[in-house]
Amino acid sequence: MNPLAENIKQLTTGLDPVEALKKLAELFAGEIVFSTSFGWEDQVITHMIFTNNIPIKVFTLETGRLFPETYYVWNRTMEMYENTIYAYYPQNGPLEKMLNEKGPSSFYESVENRKECCGIRKVEPLNRALAGNKCWITGIRAEQSVNRQDMHNVEWDEAHNLVKFHPIFEWTLEEVKAYIKKHNVPYNILHDRGFPSIGCQPCTRAIREGEDFRAGRWWWEDQSKKECGLHELIIDNK
Ligand code: ADX
Ligand code: SF4
Repeated sequence: MNPLAENIKQLTTGLDPVEALKKLAELFAGEIVFSTSFGWEDQVITHMIFTNNIPIKVFTLETGRLFPETYYVWNRTMEMYENTIYAYYPQNGPLEKMLNEKGPSSFYESVENRKECCGIRKVEPLNRALAGNKCWITGIRAEQSVNRQDMHNVEWDEAHNLVKFHPIFEWTLEEVKAYIKKHNVPYNILHDRGFPSIGCQPCTRAIREGEDFRAGRWWWEDQSKKECGLHELIIDNK
């Protein structure tokens, strides 16, 4: 493992998520960000950051194709915590070019087209959001997919040259739900309608009982291709 990531792993071992976030905010002052998609895991972390006044910048990738319910939670969260969630929006040049050449639903036609759309709407804005930072917090949990079970709560992100930290990596969905209920955290109503994982509207469907949590994301594609480029799989067992 990268020495900085190894160091962070040691410093955060045994700390609860809030203590760990406080410690990282101190260590990486002004260079630490949290990405939220307003899913319930992210809402838990947003609640921890805002109610404890932890100096971590919270941002979202506004792809332009989110569910109305997601915009509603975004709004409600900003109002409730009286805090800003910074939006990163796609660049209009490449977006307009793609729309003009291929129309608004090109992502259904091939994996290549889908990656192009995710590249324009998510990956490029993400790169801008992460630029200049040394630590990136996410709401990833091990239980979310088979791939994610092989990840770690602390990782080195080679592409962005920073440490990634997933504060509730080991939490079960039941723990997430219990926290939301206990602390009255606003959450996306779609979670109650069979959507454990919520991304862009045209690329997310509800799942059936027994299906993988992420089965409703890019459901028409081969399982192995289902990461959008935000989180390339990092497996480092050293
Ligand atoms: S994705 O790669 O498939 O889209 P997923 O929806 O599981 O990711 O979310 C995992 C984590 O990625 C979230 O906890 C959040 O930190 C980040 N993330 C995903 N989508 C967005 C988004 N639109 N804006 C900001 N962060 C996001
Ligand atoms: Fe485009 Fe779908 Fe990716 Fe959203 S999830 S950026 S709509 S391909």
